[in-house]
Amino acid sequence: MAVHANGRLRQTTLKLARSSFDYRPLLRNPAPAAYHATELGALFEGDCLDLLPSVQDEVIDTVFADPPFNLGKEYGDRTNDLRPDYLEWCSRWLAECARILRIDREITSVL
Ligand SMILES: C[S@@+](CC[C@H](N)C(=O)[O-])C[C@H]1O[C@@H](n2cnc3c(N)ncnc32)[C@H](O)[C@@H]1O
Repeated sequence: MAVHANGRLRQTTLKLARSSFDYRPLLRNPAPAAYHATELGALFEGDCLDLLPSVQDEVIDTVFADPPFNLGKEYGDRTNDLRPDYLEWCSRWLAECARILRIDREITSVL
């Protein structure tokens, strides 16, 4: 992360809390179980359009997405990378990302 300090850009280090990370307050009931969780975060496995609706409004600081590009690439059985509804599908997951982000926070997507 670069921050402006005394007129100069300065590199800083992201500080991660070492206390136990409890993701459950960020989720609505019934909350999905994490596939893997540590004190640094939680990993969920599944379709983003099934998982994102479980996240509370405006509780997320940053969203980073690297979605399929609809170029017919093989990602396994559960992904269709040649969707006729690609833009509509993108607008659905982007709308969920906008809903869960705190005001003035950021979404970055590889598109
Ligand atoms: C461009 S690749 C990103 C790869 C990733 N950045 C990595 O380094 O492994 C797109 C990924 O999105 C996943 N994907 C496709 N549709 C999805 C969906 N509806 N929900 C969650 N992930 C999805 C695919 O399985 C694929 O792994």
